Amino acid sequence: MRTKIEKISPLSAFAVNNIQEQNGASLEFLSFREKLSFANISHPQKRMEWKGARMAIKSALETIQLPYPGFYKDHHGKSHPMDGYGHVSLTHTGNMAAAIFHKEMPVGIDLEKIREKTVKLGPKYLDMEEMEFLENDPFLYTMAWSAKETIFKCQGRKGISLRKNILLQPFRKDSTTIKGKVYDSGFADHHYLVKVEVENDTILTYTIW
Ligand SMILES: CC(C)(COP(=O)(O)OP(=O)(O)OC[C@H]1O[C@@H](n2cnc3c(N)ncnc32)[C@H](O)[C@@H]1OP(=O)(O)O)[C@@H](O)C(=O)NCCC(=O)NCCS
Repeated sequence: MRTKIEKISPLSAFAVNNIQEQNGASLEFLSFREKLSFANISHPQKRMEWKGARMAIKSALETIQLPYPGFYKDHHGKSHPMDGYGHVSLTHTGNMAAAIFHKEMPVGIDLEKIREKTVKLGPKYLDMEEMEFLENDPFLYTMAWSAKETIFKCQGRKGISLRKNILLQPFRKDSTTIKGKVYDSGFADHHYLVKVEVENDTILTYTIW
């Protein structure tokens, strides 16, 4: 997937970064705590992914004229702005990292390479009802996986099962959005709309409101 920065609305933007293109980029914009977290990551690929995702948030924020506030992680692993203003989500896969920001609503984002193994793993993250419309197709299965991960990240709580608590409405290969809900989670049901973008072997999904 190519590098891109997109304003979704005056309140929300996302960016996709090629993490190999960012090698010499300065990290001065990070908060003190983030610089410490980054210093503690030793694995080279993990460092590139971490950096790529933070640079993607910075680009998305610039698009809606917001400064970089620094981010911290809660005990579920979800990132939040240090100034308590707005919502963020991050993802990385292979050479790509992406981030989405919304000033008012929770957000989720996910990047996935289309993989055969998503079909075999189907019963672990899909309901029977969903497998019926996915037709053993790795493309459709990867779309479903990515949409569920996006909804999972948007709601943010560990312990929510992709199979038992997130249900997708039927969609097709050419669908540009997927509707899904979080249900039976001990809280009121929540409905989500997930945007889908496909480029070559990569699927990008993110929440829209
Ligand atoms: C947390 C999870 C969504 C991360 O997805 P992933 O595909 O492994 O990795 P991604 O690169 O897309 O996303 C990583 C980012 O997710 C974010 N994240 C982690 N936990 C999160 C949570 N509870 N809520 C929201 N975002 C979270 C982090 O920002 C992380 O980036 P960082 O480490 O640079 O800060 C995933 O590991 C998970 O737990 N999925 C649901 C559980 C499941 O059932 N999975 C397998 C089914 S077979």
